[in-house]
Amino acid sequence: MKYFIGNWKMFGVPKSINILNKINYFHSKDKNCKKYRIVFTPPYTLIETYAKHFKKKRILIGSQNCYQKEQFSSNTAAVSSYMIRSVGAKYTLVGHSDNRSEGDTDEILKNKVFFALKNKLKVVFCIGENKKQKKNNKTFNVLKKQLTKVLDKKLNMNDIIVAYEPIWSIGSGKIPTKDELKETIIFIKKVLKRISGKNSFKVLYGGSVDGSSVEIFKQIREIDGFLIGGASKSSKKFIDIIKNYYR
Ligand code: 13P
Repeated sequence: MKYFIGNWKMFGVPKSINILNKINYFHSKDKNCKKYRIVFTPPYTLIETYAKHFKKKRILIGSQNCYQKEQFSSNTAAVSSYMIRSVGAKYTLVGHSDNRSEGDTDEILKNKVFFALKNKLKVVFCIGENKKQKKNNKTFNVLKKQLTKVLDKKLNMNDIIVAYEPIWSIGSGKIPTKDELKETIIFIKKVLKRISGKNSFKVLYGGSVDGSSVEIFKQIREIDGFLIGGASKSSKKFIDIIKNYYR
């Protein structure tokens, strides 16, 4: 099963549901539809309406983040996994570089993952190196640390998907080479195996995925899907990614 996950970031109002309706229609007619799953993470403001609307349809709804405490707390503007789950979300991203750069430490992320799983959300755990770390050949060290500091075998690893998003690639149009990316995805799977003792994991790629870059990514069979930012805000661009992937 491959994943195509659209992360809207700070985008969307109620009527933006039209974008997802078109993608839902495409999926319902696509002969390859059994091979992949579509998830969208709109902002908090839209989760409930969208989750209700797509309840019996093809698109699953998730959250872009969740708070590090359990149910309710006195933290202004915080939204817990419990609250997210209660309005119908099935997934949550954790550890997106946008949130890491705003202060999400490994300790915080550990709590977020723990409470998300406890509240029956599947976790898309994001990792990735920055430009300087890449330049200094630190990519594998950074990724290994990001994984081992947060994940451990006591967690239900079956409900965790890892998304490798090199920070320098997000929104830049720059992508890793095919060999680099293949090697990195294999490395991540090896680390995950060491952490959990299990054999099979879903590892996605994110960073400037669009209809043309996917032609390269699809040659790497170890990639289990994509976390898509910019191109997920247009039904045509998102559908093009899926079409070109299965062409
Ligand atoms: P882009 O697809 O716009 O590069 O964003 C990737 C991303 O950050 C998804 O979470």
